[in-house]
Amino acid sequence: MARLPTALLAACGLLAGRALGALEVDLDDNESIKKAAALVAQDLLSFYRGDEPGWVPGILPGPPPDGDYYWWQGGAMWGTLLDYRHVMGDDSFDDTIFQALQFQVGDDKDYNPANWSASMGNDDQAFWGFAALLAAETGFRDPDEDQPQWLALAQAVFNEQTHLDRRVEGGNCDWGLRWQVYRTNNGWDYINTIANACYFNIGARLGRYTANSTYVELASKTWDLMWRLGYISKDYDVYDGAHEPNCTEINKSQFSYNAAMILQGCAYMYNQTQNETWKERLDGMAKGVIRVFFEKDGVAFEPSCEPAPGTCNADMESYRGYMHRWMANSIQLAPHLYDTFMPILKTSAAAGVKQCTGGDNGRMCGFHWTSGVYDGLQSASLEMNVLGALTALIMPSVSAPLTNTTGGTSKGDPDAGQAKTELPTFAPITTGDKAGASILTILIVTGALSAFAWMSLD
Ligand SMILES: *[C@@H]1O[C@H](CO)[C@@H](O)[C@H](O)[C@H]1NC(C)=O
Ligand SMILES: *[C@@H]1O[C@H](CO)[C@@H](O)[C@H](O)[C@H]1NC(C)=O
Ligand SMILES: *[C@@H]1O[C@H](CO)[C@@H](O)[C@H](O)[C@H]1NC(C)=O
Ligand SMILES: *[C@@H]1O[C@H](CO)[C@@H](O)[C@H](O)[C@H]1NC(C)=O
Ligand SMILES: *[C@@H]1O[C@H](CO)[C@@H](O)[C@H](O)[C@H]1NC(C)=O
Ligand SMILES: *[C@@H]1O[C@H](CO)[C@@H](O)[C@H](O)[C@H]1NC(C)=O
Ligand SMILES: *[C@@H]1O[C@H](CO)[C@@H](O)[C@H](O)[C@H]1NC(C)=O
Ligand SMILES: *[C@@H]1O[C@H](CO)[C@@H](O)[C@H](O)[C@H]1NC(C)=O
Repeated sequence: MARLPTALLAACGLLAGRALGALEVDLDDNESIKKAAALVAQDLLSFYRGDEPGWVPGILPGPPPDGDYYWWQGGAMWGTLLDYRHVMGDDSFDDTIFQALQFQVGDDKDYNPANWSASMGNDDQAFWGFAALLAAETGFRDPDEDQPQWLALAQAVFNEQTHLDRRVEGGNCDWGLRWQVYRTNNGWDYINTIANACYFNIGARLGRYTANSTYVELASKTWDLMWRLGYISKDYDVYDGAHEPNCTEINKSQFSYNAAMILQGCAYMYNQTQNETWKERLDGMAKGVIRVFFEKDGVAFEPSCEPAPGTCNADMESYRGYMHRWMANSIQLAPHLYDTFMPILKTSAAAGVKQCTGGDNGRMCGFHWTSGVYDGLQSASLEMNVLGALTALIMPSVSAPLTNTTGGTSKGDPDAGQAKTELPTFAPITTGDKAGASILTILIVTGALSAFAWMSLD
């Protein structure tokens, strides 16, 4: 393009982005961080349509091919916003968050709604469980008594995943939690790290919130399993998982959410047990996370997909925002990590903010933080990342997660959840003929939908 006079460019709106300000933050000024985070939160919610007529509340547009996002990312987004509102003191999204978390509980009040069963992983269910748990831990408004309560929802998820019908029985993978909830889904035979890491993390946190030692024991047993299978290596590398029957041919891809999920669980375990073994594990995980995911000048990077352009999928593009938040939450529970984590959280957040110069408003964020420039991508995941990174900077200086004895008001139900996992039937069945046809349809639809296996390709 020929050079045009600046005035003309400005008139065309081509400088509008710059004029509006690419996202700008003084990372040494909490007020400046809050202002920037508020803009990013607003940009994040610009991808959400669930509060408009004709759209499903709680979820981002999807799942593919109907939109870019799988069901779990809705849960991940509400978790991100719950941390944001708690840390920054901004309650402007409370009604939206509340409606979303209640709408997706499903018929059995366990975050396993029938609509999404064709691609329901234990990890998907867990991400919604985490949002409910965060609501309890951060003192979010409690639902009316006749509505599902936050703590009970998290317990429902945990209890269902404790049942053996979600797990492998016998052999070397014994007691491993499966990736998928239903036998008919692709990935039922994948015993992956994220499913087990989520269970470990919920267990550790329910243990701290309720002081019920059963949760702590089950979390501890899950750490032992991941360690025995070599999903967590002696150097605290965290691999993706392995298949039945032996769980021995490990997929050694490393993704930041796996490691950060385990790190955070260890912080909760150490905080409540004050056991040196948990401190060793926590410190090992902390070193591993920094070595593997911040190797490039202390800026978040996904080493298993980012080096090859286009190989990080929409899920993988969202992992680093969680990592930043969970590192900061780990500092709250284990303050000795402050000096190790804080400088890195800061350099990484600075790099994240620097490349937020895209889109019509001039401040949308891309994915490649280490490059220093906006890469042209736009998505809810990418806004969530920067929102998570900004939230993490202030999180260590706000009040730590509540418990049942330190101000938490959420009502629990230790027996919440279904005793048995059964594939839901979708259509009302009226006659024998229709039943046959409908079962056939369900099988076909389930098979087809399973092909869109999500979160990690099996
Ligand atoms: C601002 O954030 C820093 C951490 O970066 C913290 O030490 C300080 O207490 C915060 N100040 C306020 C007023 O929240
Ligand atoms: C399930 O899908 C139907 C049809 O799209 C929709 O009306 C309903 O709100 C969805 N329910 C949930 C919990 O997503
Ligand atoms: C503790 O948690 C376990 C596992 O969910 C449950 O079976 C048990 O009833 C709980 N105990 C109490 C006292 O709530
Ligand atoms: C699983 O282990 C059994 C017993 O060690 C062995 O016979 C079999 O070949 C292994 N299968 C795979 C797929 O590695
Ligand atoms: C600390 O935790 C480890 C691992 O669970 C356990 O083996 C050990 O007995 C615990 N130590 C104490 C003092 O409770
Ligand atoms: C546990 O967490 C609290 C904040 O809830 C913190 O003040 C305390 O120092 C932590 N305990 C340990 C052993 O790290
Ligand atoms: C805390 O837990 C105890 C035992 O489960 C329960 O009786 C009590 O009601 C809980 N407190 C609150 C504030 O929910
Ligand atoms: C390893 O796992 C990742 C994430 O689940 C997946 O994208 C990749 O295809 C897997 N690699 C192999 C060789 O199966």
